[in-house]
Amino acid sequence: MTTYNDELSYYITDLFASQDDILSLIRENIPKKGLPAISIRPEEGKFLQFLIRATGAKKVVEIGTLGGYSGVWMARGLPPGGKLITLEKEPQHAKVAQEHFESAGVSEFVEIRVGNAHQILTDLTLEGPFDFVFIDADKSGYSVYLKWAVNNLRIGGVIAAHNAFRGGSVIDENAQDSATNNIREFNRQMAEEPRLICTIFPAGDGTVLGVKVN
Ligand code: SAH
Ligand code: DHB
Ligand code: MG
Repeated sequence: MTTYNDELSYYITDLFASQDDILSLIRENIPKKGLPAISIRPEEGKFLQFLIRATGAKKVVEIGTLGGYSGVWMARGLPPGGKLITLEKEPQHAKVAQEHFESAGVSEFVEIRVGNAHQILTDLTLEGPFDFVFIDADKSGYSVYLKWAVNNLRIGGVIAAHNAFRGGSVIDENAQDSATNNIREFNRQMAEEPRLICTIFPAGDGTVLGVKVN
């Protein structure tokens, strides 16, 4: 038996991840603008911010911008001169995110690149190595994004990938939809990758983590 439950998760959020007015407005504005309400949770955002600061990350890549909610949490963890490059295939999502980065006062730290991540990552290789990669886009792409991240992170760099639990379906053997199977496969690839030390941060929908050791 473990102690962790929803109430303890709210305890963490209230104590350590309460949103300021800007983050609250951004979160509320995302569905109002017709974007899906699938932003990460506040305590997941705080955790990414913590990791970025703890690892001294200056060059960060995010795959899946949506409305910029996770991006604002991460950008606030960057040091002066730091940069978040965030990839988004939907121009309308990118437009909303750009407005949010400006209203949060972090636009000088953030560059949105619009297009299919598979294409953009190929070009981005020239700008590496990177310190931190956050994966939160199409689950069918996760394996490819993992391969890219392992090859384009510095030693000591960190991979974080959202939806490790897929709402709990990863441990439901009756759940055989493609997204769930993609996440199961991805989690196993992380666990077995010899260049990474990995685990899962279990708050929210779970974030799989890996630090590159060789
Ligand atoms: N990280 C965001 C949520 C991302 S939702 C947050 O927590 O605030 C996933 C996003 O990935 C969506 O906006 C979707 O349009 C985008 N996406 C999906 N497939 C993609 C691809 N192949 N390339 C780039 N973006 C993609
Ligand atoms: C979905 C995607 C996500 O990244 C997420 O956090 C929640 C849901 C989805 O595609 O349904
Ligand atoms: Mg997600």
